[in-house]
Amino acid sequence: MDLGISGKTALITGASRGIGLAVAELLAVEGVRVVGASRGGSPELEKVAEKTVRVDLSTREGATSVVQEALAALGGIDFLVNNVGAGDADHLSLAGFLDVDDDQWQRVFDLNLFSAVRTTRAALPSILERRGAIVNISSVNGRVPTGSPVGYAEAKSALNQLGKRLSEELAPRGVRVNTVSPGPVTTPLWTDPAGFGGKVAEALGVPHSELLDVVPRQFGASSGRFTTAAEVADLVVFLLSERAANIHGADHFIDGGILKAA
Ligand SMILES: NC(=O)c1ccc[n+]([C@@H]2O[C@H](COP(=O)([O-])OP(=O)(O)OC[C@H]3O[C@@H](n4cnc5c(N)ncnc54)[C@H](OP(=O)(O)O)[C@@H]3O)[C@@H](O)[C@H]2O)c1
Repeated sequence: MDLGISGKTALITGASRGIGLAVAELLAVEGVRVVGASRGGSPELEKVAEKTVRVDLSTREGATSVVQEALAALGGIDFLVNNVGAGDADHLSLAGFLDVDDDQWQRVFDLNLFSAVRTTRAALPSILERRGAIVNISSVNGRVPTGSPVGYAEAKSALNQLGKRLSEELAPRGVRVNTVSPGPVTTPLWTDPAGFGGKVAEALGVPHSELLDVVPRQFGASSGRFTTAAEVADLVVFLLSERAANIHGADHFIDGGILKAA
């Protein structure tokens, strides 16, 4: 299938590992010139990106300046993937609502919602000019109650609604906006012992590997397994492509069957 995107340009946030890196790698294979942003960067991203930007996307300044850097490197932006999200495990409390203060709510919303708001606002003039496309990476947690850190599911729900708003406003102007909502994905978020998965295992008092064995079933995944980052990237890149030319404003689940509603 010819995706028809060779020669286009893309900005991907949170691109040094996990889902963002998988999207950057696949877009590069398809001939898209990529700028990838994260705080630390990675050799893997350096390999496929035309430029990497090291920036804290949870700040107003970072989420905006990354677009100026991408515009300078690429000359314009066709595709924006608002992927950055979740948050640093060591700053995310697993406590219940009463024990979580404003700081966590603010941090989680800054990274999972406002980074997308700010980056999109800055990139939109160029995306409009090029009649491009945006994909926001949300989560099944935006739809189903889970034990995710307080504020995360709420921020992803708001991100879902942002996608709807943007699509309503931008579809008539030739820009497509879609949301991708994964269930558990085998990224460092789960697999790194120092990441969120390791922290959950520690809190439950079980070995990390045992936790990983049961997570998909705990989430209710009919397939019984994690999604891979490459599988999420396949969906994201398809949605950005010409093959998805009339797909607007939809929330696409890739969750092994966690969501049961028809
Ligand atoms: N993995 C899952 O199970 C899963 C499920 C549903 C939805 N999601 C969503 O998918 C997206 C990607 O998740 P992932 O699993 O790929 O995460 P990940 O493996 O933890 O990777 C996160 C990426 O974001 C970057 N990042 C984190 N905080 C940042 C900040 N403040 N400023 C700039 N970059 C930052 C990280 O690089 P640096 O640390 O170098 O900054 C890294 O490149 C998130 O929105 C997450 O909510 C993930």
